[in-house]
Amino acid sequence: MTRTPLMAGNWKMNLDHLEANHLVQGIAMELKDHHHDYDRCEVVVFPPFTDIRTVQTIVDADELGIKYGAQDVSIHDNGAYTGEISTAMLDKLGCSYVIMGHSERREYHGESDELVGAKARKALDAGFTPVLCCGEALEVRKAGTHVEFVLGQIRAALAGWSAEDVAAIVVAYEPIWAIGTGETATSQDAQEVCGAIRQALREDFGDATADATRILYGGSANPGNIKELMAQADIDGALIGGASLKAESFAEMARFYA
Ligand code: 13P
Repeated sequence: MTRTPLMAGNWKMNLDHLEANHLVQGIAMELKDHHHDYDRCEVVVFPPFTDIRTVQTIVDADELGIKYGAQDVSIHDNGAYTGEISTAMLDKLGCSYVIMGHSERREYHGESDELVGAKARKALDAGFTPVLCCGEALEVRKAGTHVEFVLGQIRAALAGWSAEDVAAIVVAYEPIWAIGTGETATSQDAQEVCGAIRQALREDFGDATADATRILYGGSANPGNIKELMAQADIDGALIGGASLKAESFAEMARFYA
């Protein structure tokens, strides 16, 4: 059982394409200076759509080991869907990952589990690795029903999927109360839910899938807590917001193993 750790930077709606250029070069430089081993930890950035072409150009020109993806994708192929971006467009830009179901899109754009599942399906069928996000709000956590809530989100999104397809996705557990608040879930809190997710995958899709699917934690992950988070049995990486916007902190987190 080998799951390659994954450090993923979700830039959200930050940085224009010139700033993106600067950040990607900075991350690459930091990682090179510290002899980062990309086989020990995969490094992926999720810039805004308008920055992706710029990131592609740098990654290709400098043959960087950094991968990149999109923060969202349309379930439609093309046509009259104002503001949407298709899998074909992302494919042309060399993206390898796509995020769906981030709590910010669920909350501000009314995305349902069914839509999130359809986006994951669309992304996988188009050859991308879907990063399926889940996570509970503070009220749910306070009520003590967070595990049940999160498993419900995942099971609804992956209903009817084959074990092989589920093994190819990445799940990101991001408790909403820990996002951008500086309040990280303790590594035990994070492990509790990530472990429950893996157990649910085991029950629904079997051992091989449960052992292969990567599960990330997200929510105020930073250089100070990454080692402890990564030491947990069922945490295979992090989806990082704020701390991914600085080359030094993001690169330091990618080198959690050092
Ligand atoms: P922060 O790391 O800023 O808390 O954001 C987490 C997140 O939502 C990543 O997708």
